[in-house]
Amino acid sequence: MCGIVGFVGRAQAAPILLDGLRRLEYRGYDSAGIAVEQAGEIRIVKTKGRIQCLADLTGEGQKVPGTLGIGHTRWATHGEPSDVNAHPHRSMSGKIAVVHNGIIENYVELREYLQKKGYVFVSDTDTEVVAHLIDYYYKGDLLKAMIKAVNRLEGSYALGVVCADCPDQFAAVRKASPLIVGLSEEGNFIASDVTALISHTKRVMYLEDDEIVLVGREGVRVYNMNEEEIEKEISEVTWNIDAAEKGGYEHFMLKEIMEQPTAIRETIRPRLKEGRVVLDDVCLTAEDLKGLRRIIITACGSAYHAGVVGKYVLEELTRIPVEVDLASEFRYRNPIVDDKTLVLIISQSGETADTLAALKEARRRGARTLSIVNVVGSAIAKESDDVIYTWAGPEIAVATTKAYSTQLIVLYLFALYAAGLLGTREEAELRRLAAELESLPDKIEALLPACKPEMQRLAAIHYGAENLFFIGRNLDYAAALEGSLKLKEISYIHSEAYAAGELKHGTISLIDQGRLVIALCCQNALFDKMRSNIREVKARGAVVMALASESHPDIRETADQAVLVPETDPLFMASMEVVPLQLFAYYVASANGCDIDKPRNLAKSVTVE
Ligand code: F6R
Repeated sequence: MCGIVGFVGRAQAAPILLDGLRRLEYRGYDSAGIAVEQAGEIRIVKTKGRIQCLADLTGEGQKVPGTLGIGHTRWATHGEPSDVNAHPHRSMSGKIAVVHNGIIENYVELREYLQKKGYVFVSDTDTEVVAHLIDYYYKGDLLKAMIKAVNRLEGSYALGVVCADCPDQFAAVRKASPLIVGLSEEGNFIASDVTALISHTKRVMYLEDDEIVLVGREGVRVYNMNEEEIEKEISEVTWNIDAAEKGGYEHFMLKEIMEQPTAIRETIRPRLKEGRVVLDDVCLTAEDLKGLRRIIITACGSAYHAGVVGKYVLEELTRIPVEVDLASEFRYRNPIVDDKTLVLIISQSGETADTLAALKEARRRGARTLSIVNVVGSAIAKESDDVIYTWAGPEIAVATTKAYSTQLIVLYLFALYAAGLLGTREEAELRRLAAELESLPDKIEALLPACKPEMQRLAAIHYGAENLFFIGRNLDYAAALEGSLKLKEISYIHSEAYAAGELKHGTISLIDQGRLVIALCCQNALFDKMRSNIREVKARGAVVMALASESHPDIRETADQAVLVPETDPLFMASMEVVPLQLFAYYVASANGCDIDKPRNLAKSVTVE
């Protein structure tokens, strides 16, 4: 969703801001703008539409001179996408300009208050109140004005604030919305996301809620709400610029699919020692696990689908009952959660508003919380009792692939770890599974080159399909959920994932002549059941494309088209079969000419409800 970048230094700010905004494009946006200070004046250029429109208006930044500025990509929440609603917003005096991610919940009340003081509003946004409010409190000291204004704000925000009286520094603050500070010889930065500044620096500070930073040309100072300066740790980002660029691929999505073996290897490597799972990041003891009555996994979208896989694997290995709930439902359903509940939160971005709210709700009710997160220092990582990072690196395509795959890996690792502590599986069996897990990246690496042209060929046959079905049982069903979402979100073709045994309870009436059914038959123990389900739909006219493990080449006798997937332990099979499903979605979307990396209406980080 919205993105923020800010810079002060020796170089011209506008080209740096535009570059940062381009790197934030993947988050999804509908308008963009910059504010640059020069000689005591703030010049704002903003427009509806793509960053390229902004770049054209500013001559790639050359027409807006100045070495201090802030920029923004807006994903509309309050007020339609338009030039006037785009950020930055300026106070009436012209002294203050603001960019904002998040939502100011009490903006109506603040707006009325400021209107009574004579402030005139020009946009429909919640953000404009922030510009006027800081202006109202500004009496020559930006830090004091920031503290007073922030004290009156309710909601979530990351703010970048430029003041016409301050040619050498700008201010920023965050609450429940990510904001990082970047430090370099060239100057200093803020950004909502590391990708915006990785081409300039790897040295970053992760801001906490209610920390206010004054970003200066020569240095950075961080303050708490009592105006006391605080020490912040400087962290080094572990990945480099290549990870945030396409590297010769046509789309980030394809690049990220191909990166999965590396991402999985990186996620497993630090956690397997001498054949055993070691989770240094988790403080749960055997006693803690034995005291659990159940585990609830909560997440959104693909992360939720990873949770469905997690349920099967965790229950199988630990025998602890596991529920999976959509975060947007969990937070409003009066969930039965107490100190004997472990709530597992899964999120690539670590920012998803519903998931973050579910985490807070779980904590409020006394649950122990453990998050599986990709973005270091994100809100969800900070709020949780324990965090296990997925080391997938930056994921730029809106449709997740490598982050989902590494979420599965962390769930397997956690299940093996918990089974070891609980003693629910023999040591030898756990070692065998750990070895199998270790071999997964190589297996996926071997699968990719063969599977890529095959899925392209199948996509060329099926790209015109409408209303298709994915069916599977057990972990194949969990993989079907993800395969179906991948296809529909990027190709705009409607599909549904069904538990294969459930079809005949209603949905089979939708099967007619030529209807495409993708049957996932990779759970060998359920192969015969799936074969019967394939026969049922074929008898009603369906065309069936099936995925089965290599030990079942006989699937070719039943299905119209068959893809054979290399074998691993059945518990980990979802990791193998999701790869051809991702490629199928990718090539179907490509054949339909869709905007694969930025599907319509979608945003990478969903920071609103
Ligand atoms: C689908 C997809 C989304 C996300 C969901 C949760 O490809 O990417 O469904 O999985 O929005 O996002 P995170 O994992 O960032 O919480």
